[in-house]
Amino acid sequence: MADSKDMTRREAVKVAGAATLATVAAARQVQAGPLIRTAKAQTNAIQYGMVGTGSRGTYLLKHLKGIDNGRCVAVCDVSDDALTKAVQTIGGSPKKYKDWRELLADKDVEAVFVTTPLFLHYPVTKDALEAGKHVFCEKSMVFTPEEVHGLRKLAHDRPKQTLQVGLQRRYSAMYQAARQMVEKGVIGEVTYVQAQWHRNPGWKMKTDQPKMANWRLFREWSGGLVAELASHQIDVADWMMGMTPEAVMGMGSRDFMHDGRDILDNIQLIYKYPKGRRLVWTGIPGSSHWAGVGGQRTEMGEIICGTGGSIHITVGDDNNMPIGMWFKEPNPPKVEEAKKKKKEEWKAGATMVAAAGSRPLPILLDKDLLTGKESFLEKEMKYARLWLYQKGILVPEEPKNPVDTSLESFFNDCRTGKRPRADIEVGLADSIAVILSNIALDTGRTVQFSEIENMGKGEAKKA
Ligand SMILES: NC(=O)c1ccc[n+]([C@@H]2O[C@H](COP(=O)([O-])OP(=O)(O)OC[C@H]3O[C@@H](n4cnc5c(N)ncnc54)[C@H](O)[C@@H]3O)[C@@H](O)[C@H]2O)c1
Repeated sequence: MADSKDMTRREAVKVAGAATLATVAAARQVQAGPLIRTAKAQTNAIQYGMVGTGSRGTYLLKHLKGIDNGRCVAVCDVSDDALTKAVQTIGGSPKKYKDWRELLADKDVEAVFVTTPLFLHYPVTKDALEAGKHVFCEKSMVFTPEEVHGLRKLAHDRPKQTLQVGLQRRYSAMYQAARQMVEKGVIGEVTYVQAQWHRNPGWKMKTDQPKMANWRLFREWSGGLVAELASHQIDVADWMMGMTPEAVMGMGSRDFMHDGRDILDNIQLIYKYPKGRRLVWTGIPGSSHWAGVGGQRTEMGEIICGTGGSIHITVGDDNNMPIGMWFKEPNPPKVEEAKKKKKEEWKAGATMVAAAGSRPLPILLDKDLLTGKESFLEKEMKYARLWLYQKGILVPEEPKNPVDTSLESFFNDCRTGKRPRADIEVGLADSIAVILSNIALDTGRTVQFSEIENMGKGEAKKA
């Protein structure tokens, strides 16, 4: 044990009680659902409107309510019920619109959240950018090749407007720590990512509602499992490997859900990245088991494999914070850089503790790092936490839900003009991967990513 070398078990136990209590309190807060604070009025808060206040829109509004650098002034939805629920969720008295063009004409609105079904992302985002608004567009950013080219041009012509995509893993402290580990060579060269989103059961058809309420299940409006689920994880693979794929092939069919939907429910995809790297993504219904992080989490997660070790990571949900672990390769190749480090110590923006081959190690966040500036008690608390992490009694938890961080960061970027972490390039790379993956599944052929340049060069269709 490197960091805890100087700490005896007895010393650790002395403060472990306090650390455990603090963590139990934090865990209770997590279990109790999202922390909904009441936003303090901030004079320079960004005034925003939201288009599409369905399930995701309302979820974001719940989180936005606790964020003080944005203020909701307008909501828009074609459904009265959705509008009513949106106003109840955010509180106050935002203006209600049924046509997004009217919301965009509202001079009070500086920024717009686009939380509509996928096929409407581009038309609303285009109109919003042309109306001079900043835009937070949910993933997957766009739906068709025409829209990829159209949005790239639009954003290029409007560099002062912030455009962020709803890929919240980019805002997670846990994922950022994993990315730092990759950058610093802690897990060697990343050659392979395995990602899954397995649901049990899969999405259900809402038979008592109009077809549009089930838009996700129909290809005329949706990119199916690839757009709705894989998009998050293709982005993680791109980010961790620092590159985008060259080609994709896959197998997909509809085997289990025979209720009139036309999307596929059983999908396996292989992405070829430069230098022999691969991502394998699977999406199935009927089992939610995930072998990552010792089977403690279900449904979705990524395993990032490098020549020197592997990272298991998942973002979780409102009740389960992101969690990450890493496993040192039993006999990693000798790397000059590694030799310079103390035998047992690995720094990755975090100080790691070496162990035998297959023992999982926590990915440490900034709050766990020893800076040398701590008070005696703070230092003891950190030692105690490290000890508990190593024993598997505690896992490091993010100080904030990445969704909250992504929203706060969006408003800050609107004010400062700073480029978002999940910017248009991230969003478009992700959309291109989704579009080409679906072509690969539909045609059964290997699709080259360069093909996108020759697709959809006509004008994007009007909504
Ligand atoms: N980032 C994430 O983790 C995440 C999670 C869930 C959903 N999403 C994304 O959020 C988006 C919305 O998904 P959802 O689950 O909320 O769908 P939903 O069907 O629950 O909500 C969509 C809303 O848009 C409204 N709408 C439809 N046409 C409209 C129009 N012309 N003008 C205004 N409103 C209109 C609908 O009435 C509905 O209320 C999707 O793109 C989805 O992929 C992202």
